[in-house]
Amino acid sequence: MSRIAILIVAAGKGERAGLGLPKQYERLAGQPMLRRTVEAFRAFDSTCRIQVVIGPGQQELAAGALGGLNLPSPVLGGATRQESVRLGLEALAKDAPDYVLIHDAARPLISAAVIGAVIAALQAGADGALPMVAASDTLRRKDGDGRWSLVPRENLYRAQTPQGFVYAKIAAAHRTHAREDVTDDVALAELAGMKVQMVEGEEKNIKVTRKEDFALAEKLLSSGDVRTATGYDVHKFKDGDHIWLCGLKIAHTHGLEGHSDADVGLHAITDALLGCIGEGDIGQHFPPTDERWRGAASWKFLDHAAALVAAKGGIINHVDLTIICERPKVGPHREAMRARIAEILKIDTTRVSVKATTTEGLGFTGRREGIAAQAIATVKL
Ligand code: CTP
Ligand code: MG
Repeated sequence: MSRIAILIVAAGKGERAGLGLPKQYERLAGQPMLRRTVEAFRAFDSTCRIQVVIGPGQQELAAGALGGLNLPSPVLGGATRQESVRLGLEALAKDAPDYVLIHDAARPLISAAVIGAVIAALQAGADGALPMVAASDTLRRKDGDGRWSLVPRENLYRAQTPQGFVYAKIAAAHRTHAREDVTDDVALAELAGMKVQMVEGEEKNIKVTRKEDFALAEKLLSSGDVRTATGYDVHKFKDGDHIWLCGLKIAHTHGLEGHSDADVGLHAITDALLGCIGEGDIGQHFPPTDERWRGAASWKFLDHAAALVAAKGGIINHVDLTIICERPKVGPHREAMRARIAEILKIDTTRVSVKATTTEGLGFTGRREGIAAQAIATVKL
């Protein structure tokens, strides 16, 4: 088995996007763009080695964007993309991989098909591989004198990333040609005489560059399969003076019985999300027999389900929860519950709905023996 490392360069300033912060940390459909890019590779191979390169002063932004992903610490890049790549390659030297795939953080729409094609070309013996798409628009160049001339588009291609290489060769090329000014790594590989093969890129693998590209990327991200699934949970009242409901501690005449904090609302939503991706149920991921989860805060379960959805490239479109009980009254807490659920899922509050109903005194909820909750989630994959 060849050892592959993914190098994601995220050390740019994102000047053309003109946002308040470097574009790679801006949210794209609820998640920082850099996180989506990392998760696209994780979706291809959940165990792949990923090294991120960030800009000086971006440590806090990176920590926020990459929290919980268990990545090695990001290394610092340089003033140009080329320098950032070189510094990233040096960081991999200690435990050098056979191949390295160098990818722009600004291309979060990278698909498993393109990643797989680049790796396949390397494994078939190429020194380097790059995804390209044919130029389909008519191209014109503005010349020095301000006049426009037609550029024949036959045989013109646009280069994308990830560009993959035999690690030792591209690392040497970056060291030897550090003074040459090039815009991608294949250009350096060619200077070093490496044999580079083209593979099929994808139109949707855009480089998010300008502000308006965010809207396009969100559309492309959400253009896949739509899945819905439900979740249902019940917990019984016991003696106590508060309950946990939708991530909030709420004073009540009773507590709720359970191995964890017995948050029925979050449990129902967790199951709905797991259902959308066919990942079993909450009991499978967090067995009640496991001491680790005794008294656990249920936001951790929900956070885990959301991470699994993201790892599959999914976007949580909407979550709707119905809480079934006579007491406590949900109304006064509804907005805080929505906000807390949205916070855990890292989505906008408008994508979360919390409803409540009584059962008119009928059944176990009517007899005030416990609380039931049912949820439905919509995920785009
Ligand atoms: N990049 C980098 N180090 C640099 C410059 C760019 O790691 N000194 C990274 C960017 O973070 C991005 C990728 O290279 O993921 C492609 O660069 P580009 O799209 O040009 O991003 P920026 O340089 O950040 O944007 P701009 O050119 O608009 O300032
Ligand atoms: Mg740039």
